[in-house]
Amino acid sequence: MKVGIIGYGSMGKMILEKIAEAKFVECKDLYAANRTYEKIEHLTAVYNVCKTNAELAAAADIIFICVRPADIRTILNEIKPLISKNTLIVSLNGSITFEMMSKIIDHKIAKAIPSVTAEINRPKTLICCSSLFSDDDRIALEDLLKCMGDVIELPEEEIGMGSEPVSCMPGFISAIFDVISNSAKKHTNISEQQIIQMLLHTMVGTGNLMLEKCLSFNDVVARVAAKGGITEEGTKVIYDMLPKVTDEMFDKTLEKRIQTAEKARDNFEQINSI
Ligand SMILES: NC(=O)c1ccc[n+]([C@@H]2O[C@H](COP(=O)([O-])OP(=O)(O)OC[C@H]3O[C@@H](n4cnc5c(N)ncnc54)[C@H](OP(=O)(O)O)[C@@H]3O)[C@@H](O)[C@H]2O)c1
Repeated sequence: MKVGIIGYGSMGKMILEKIAEAKFVECKDLYAANRTYEKIEHLTAVYNVCKTNAELAAAADIIFICVRPADIRTILNEIKPLISKNTLIVSLNGSITFEMMSKIIDHKIAKAIPSVTAEINRPKTLICCSSLFSDDDRIALEDLLKCMGDVIELPEEEIGMGSEPVSCMPGFISAIFDVISNSAKKHTNISEQQIIQMLLHTMVGTGNLMLEKCLSFNDVVARVAAKGGITEEGTKVIYDMLPKVTDEMFDKTLEKRIQTAEKARDNFEQINSI
């Protein structure tokens, strides 16, 4: 199987490296293209580096489109004349719908939403496949993505909210712990570096403890926050005040997701009417 990656940014680079690392596909069968060619020129000794997206499309059996939503339409138009009816097209973007994409290429299209945690093989990668994807196509995509970790299939309408606890969450978790670290600094002379290390190890350790011992969030709270104790004082504040913040967070992200999809739809429709 020849795999092509269009867009060598945060996600494209990670997917290319993970597939190569897993040796699921040999490097000679991996293709990369990027708008700014200079960014991928150094890869020529290892992979097939393409000067254009069309060159990549002519060679690859499965193409990952790893670009921002505003750039997807141009790429679909570029690759359209070069792909066969069996080429699998996989978009990493949750906002551009199958309906929008199929107006340009009525092909086998899927979406795959990874998380940066795939870099250390700890992601849940979401996938959803359009109706033209056969069971064999889906299995081929899943097998390929399993080189990074677990794969979860969701219906298209759930990909948006599904992305929040997967691809957005590393950002949310980091922001939350940044706030906690800043508050802690105000209450101690322990160095910032030490506070961050303590938080990071406790955060990872808590996650591993829960996974290995099948504990729920409430189980951990009950284990640590003894009745009338110090931890309970802190957890009370969190349960009292944080829901307002997290409800607002999901309201805002889902609103932004709708706006992005509408903007993309306008963009796709304007071009199709030219
Ligand atoms: N970041 C995440 O954690 C994450 C998680 C899941 C899904 N996603 C989705 O994945 C997609 C990519 O995100 P990202 O964070 O990797 O973006 P990014 O870091 O901004 O990278 C985008 C890459 O696409 C290239 N590009 C743009 N237009 C192109 C074109 N016409 N032909 C070839 N290459 C082109 C850019 O090239 P230049 O070098 O010229 O800028 C850049 O290298 C987005 O749709 C995003 O929603 C991201």
